[in-house]
Amino acid sequence: MATIYGKAPGKIILFGEHAVVYGQPAIAIPVTKVNATTHIYPDIQSTPGTIKIQAPNIGLETFLDELPQDHPIAKAVNLTLQKCSLTSVPAFSVQVSSTIPISAGMGSGAAISISIIRAVSAFLGIHLSLAEISDLAYEVEKIHHGNPSGIDNSVITYKKPVYYIRNASIEFLDIKQSTHWVIADTGEKTPTLETVSAVRNLFEKDPDHYSTIIQKIGQITQEARTALVEGEISLLGHLINKNQKYLSQLEVSSPKLEKLIEISLSSGAAGAKLSGGGRGGQVIAITKEDQLEHLEDSLLHAGAVNVITTTLKKSGSQ
Ligand code: PMV
Repeated sequence: MATIYGKAPGKIILFGEHAVVYGQPAIAIPVTKVNATTHIYPDIQSTPGTIKIQAPNIGLETFLDELPQDHPIAKAVNLTLQKCSLTSVPAFSVQVSSTIPISAGMGSGAAISISIIRAVSAFLGIHLSLAEISDLAYEVEKIHHGNPSGIDNSVITYKKPVYYIRNASIEFLDIKQSTHWVIADTGEKTPTLETVSAVRNLFEKDPDHYSTIIQKIGQITQEARTALVEGEISLLGHLINKNQKYLSQLEVSSPKLEKLIEISLSSGAAGAKLSGGGRGGQVIAITKEDQLEHLEDSLLHAGAVNVITTTLKKSGSQ
């Protein structure tokens, strides 16, 4: 019998994080160099309905019914079982692994959920549409983020660049010209739940000031949509730098993020900013293809714990 598995990539947000929580657009792209994968192994020895969970990356080995209901892995498995609504399920093991850094702004939580939902539904022989998969993953995201915008589960499920507006629309971008990106890990965790609520506190204290900042981020994202589709590196760089300026006004930057941004800019990047919740996690930088290696080396030298490059390819190319 062929192995049954589900897979999902990482992601980075290029524009509009935080503002997206307030209804502004954001742009995110999948990062396929890192992935979460879930394998399912049938267990013919055990009583039907026995479900074993193994996640060696986080040292977890247990049974589903021993995990708290609000554990993200338990929630992903249980939601999928409910969605598939079978009267009985055979015994099986769920084995989760991931190369996506955890709590680092690369969508590890959403990717793990999506890989589980895909693998479990495939094992049970139930076809779920992409919208159904994304909706289930969104429910799990609530455990990680409290009040998530839904951008992570969307970009990761559809594995396409998205222009996303909360509760409104997901537009898939038809990329005409490739762009090259460097993703540098500060090694510091990004506490998304905390940064989202810190921004909420600022907003509530001074709604006029902070809603202006949030709207300005929204305008940058709107402008960036065409620039990204057309691959206009210098305009994108300019917009990225502007977006970063507003993110630091939202107090979600950090000294290490600022350092890696500065190094990116002095090493040939057209623009650099934090990506995701902030106060840690990733710096993303855009550059010309022939500058990628130099930028990668400079960031590692400056203390990035890991650097990967990704190309947003022209739509339809492999
Ligand atoms: O830290 P990440 O990559 O999960 O991204 C959070 C993005 C926010 O806009 C800050 C929150 C959200 O739900 O969109």
